[in-house]
Amino acid sequence: MEFKDYKQEQEGYISRMPEVLARVYGRKPTACIFTYGCQQNVSDSERIKGMLTEMGYALTDSAEGADFVLYNTCAVRGHAEDRVYGNIGAMKHYKKRHPGMIIAICGCMAQQEKVAQRMKKSYPYVDLVFGTHVQYRLPEFLYKRLNGSSRIFEIPQEEKIVEGIPVHRDGDFKGWLPIMYGCNNFCSYCIVPYVRGRERSRKPEDILNEARELVAKGYKDITLLGQNVNSYGAGCDFGLNFAGLLRKINEIEGDFRIRFMTSHPKDCTTELLDAMRDCEKVSCHLHLPFQSGSDRILALMNRKYTREKYLSLIKAARERIPDISITSDIIVGFPGETYEDFKETLSLVKEVRFSSLFTFIYSPRDNTPAAQMDDPVSREEKGKWFDELLRTQEIISREINADTVGKTYKVLCDDFGRKEGKMAGHTNGTAVIEFDGTEEDLGKFINVKVDAISNVLEGTRIKEN
Ligand code: 5AD
Ligand code: SF4
Repeated sequence: MEFKDYKQEQEGYISRMPEVLARVYGRKPTACIFTYGCQQNVSDSERIKGMLTEMGYALTDSAEGADFVLYNTCAVRGHAEDRVYGNIGAMKHYKKRHPGMIIAICGCMAQQEKVAQRMKKSYPYVDLVFGTHVQYRLPEFLYKRLNGSSRIFEIPQEEKIVEGIPVHRDGDFKGWLPIMYGCNNFCSYCIVPYVRGRERSRKPEDILNEARELVAKGYKDITLLGQNVNSYGAGCDFGLNFAGLLRKINEIEGDFRIRFMTSHPKDCTTELLDAMRDCEKVSCHLHLPFQSGSDRILALMNRKYTREKYLSLIKAARERIPDISITSDIIVGFPGETYEDFKETLSLVKEVRFSSLFTFIYSPRDNTPAAQMDDPVSREEKGKWFDELLRTQEIISREINADTVGKTYKVLCDDFGRKEGKMAGHTNGTAVIEFDGTEEDLGKFINVKVDAISNVLEGTRIKEN
């Protein structure tokens, strides 16, 4: 694996950008970043914002009048792409009013050749299109465009790891920490391996340094990110797998939580579950997508595990961590799925009793094997199955919530409540509890006893003594 250093690669551009920005704008220019999709994209955007602020941009939430507008896009479902096309279409008017505006698109959608071509042809006001592998070259792209280069389209497949990119984090106490990039699994419905490339792991020391830095800055909730964190370190000579990495991060001193996503059931081991049990800072939450409860569909999806294996993992997790919150992703209406197959998904949902679910109707993606398969079931029919799944999960979630009444949880206060005078916090698992509090509580751990359930869990803070 090739490792590169951002500063070394981009130094020539980074050092000249302040002078270029002063010449072009004569004031501090503004940048507006829109982020779509998963946490990996949110984390990438934090690095993009880091590069921009280091170059001298001020960040803004409004595209109107901004000097640089960037769409960091998602390609996992068609709907995500349609939204981006719609929103970029609307930028035409903003640019008319502010002709100096630079408009850019990056991320998973931009990595596709057909999208770059469509931008080239039909969106002449889009200045930069760059893919997932070259985000670190943003200073170079901006430098060139601001110095009169023609529109830039850069979507090479150069897979590497670039360290040393500055990070401008969105939150002050919840932090994302990417540990690996890409995916090797080629689930037959999924575009991710094509747009993010092969799996590659960051070096343990780079991850540990970033984790230590987060803790030192007061971050209380660190989420390790990767498409399949369970295969961290595969093919590398780190001498450390994901379970080992968790144990190392757990050793960092401080009062903080460690979360991670996403785990693939085929690579989820009892060694990992043991590490979760042993590491007091690792939260009681496992996000373990099963996608379908039918073995026939799982095989067509190329998921490489069976329903039985999945259920045995859940059992092993609960034996070790009895109050673990388990969440999952499900695809409804995969090509060729019948109602009988779907009933297997429903029965698995009832058997496992997930804390919550992320449910999606299958969306065909270009160049994936599933997009070539026969898909006879109508969208309307799939919608009915989807609603049935939601209703089933709603009942389970309500029952799981009811079980929390009377219990006390340590929550990390991370948001305002829905009513004046209320704050909200996450438990060590996935539940959110509201309680009386003030802005002062943000970023603090507070013990809260659940009293009642309305739309959310409501609790009272327990005095420390
Ligand atoms: N259609 C619908 N859902 C999809 N996902 C991935 N690809 C598709 C697709 N083509 C879902 C999977 C995955 C989650 C991130 O998105 O459930 O786990
Ligand atoms: Fe897509 Fe499967 Fe990789 Fe997840 S594991 S990113 S669903 S190919």
